[in-house]
Amino acid sequence: MPELVLGIETSCDETGVGLVRGTTLFADAVASSVAEHVRFGGVVPEVAARAHLEALVPTLRRALGEAGVRRSDIDAIAVTAGPGLAGALLVGTSAAKAYALALDRPLYAVNHLAGHVAVDTVEHGLLPTPLVALLVSGGHTSLLLVDDVAHTIRTLGATVDDAAGEAFDKVARLLGLPYPGGPVIDRIAADGDPAAIAFPRGMTGPRDAPYDFSFSGLKTAVARWVEACEAAGRPVPVADVAASFQEAVADVLTAKAIRACREHGVGDLLVGGGVAANSRLRTLAEQRCAAAGLRLRVPRPRLCTDNGAMIAALGARVVAAGVTPSALDFATDPGLPVERVSL
Ligand code: KG4
Ligand code: ZN
Repeated sequence: MPELVLGIETSCDETGVGLVRGTTLFADAVASSVAEHVRFGGVVPEVAARAHLEALVPTLRRALGEAGVRRSDIDAIAVTAGPGLAGALLVGTSAAKAYALALDRPLYAVNHLAGHVAVDTVEHGLLPTPLVALLVSGGHTSLLLVDDVAHTIRTLGATVDDAAGEAFDKVARLLGLPYPGGPVIDRIAADGDPAAIAFPRGMTGPRDAPYDFSFSGLKTAVARWVEACEAAGRPVPVADVAASFQEAVADVLTAKAIRACREHGVGDLLVGGGVAANSRLRTLAEQRCAAAGLRLRVPRPRLCTDNGAMIAALGARVVAAGVTPSALDFATDPGLPVERVSL
């Protein structure tokens, strides 16, 4: 029987504790501090770190309860070592080190971004190889070529400025909508016309890097459009703006992901990260993959946003691959590159 792996995630504003055995999910407990950041319009690192400190032990107890197991049943511990907020990462890794020592179990310091890819194993089974992964979150937007999620991940391209989720959050703010902006824009866009406004598609020119992204020009274009509307004394058609903005993001993301599959001869695309919860991105990815003859994997929305199951799922792959456990004195790395799956 595969090992029961405990996963601890504290890289941003969700305290996540998951339990995974092989590709079976036993628990996925999450405590979010998002409500504490709303009035600041973004995550405040010190507030997030303190919230992790308060939530970690209760969330771990909840995960054990959900799975109906005891601490002593845990065979291995995986924890996010980066990338993420320095103080937040320290809380999770310190706790993981303490549990590893107290329970005398191996500890695996793993990469948050690889976790967003590995989490799909608990929903759709082991990953095909190779695989192209489109990772879209509040902090990251990358196209990855995944040969083995436990070992070998290569970056094909990434955003040169804002992350896709960051663009959602900034556009929501300029439309007067609350933080985090992604889910709100997704909801409001349902009542709008995605073809109402032709917003720019960044980095899609013939001389642009084919797998890199840029969203700051789009954000500025939305701001200018809204300003012009207000200056002319017209009410801002918020639903149309939201739908047209969302269409521009989903269009570029899916077009580049499919191009990456085609040009690398890869038949499987995975979309992960918080923005993969976006309904239009999911629909467009389905349509374009079907048209291109590609198989698409998108975890359910709850597994797309940050959680502990993704770290437990990655831990399970790393353990299965026979990777050497991390030394107990490993250091967190807020800028950990995705190529370093474990430390
Ligand atoms: O992966 P995640 O939970 O945390 C990071 O690692 O960043 O992603 C959070 C981001 C936020 O920017 C949020 O606005 C965005 O994911 N997001 C969405 C949706 N749900 C969350 N963006 C678009 N549509 C959604 N439905
Ligand atoms: Zn994330």
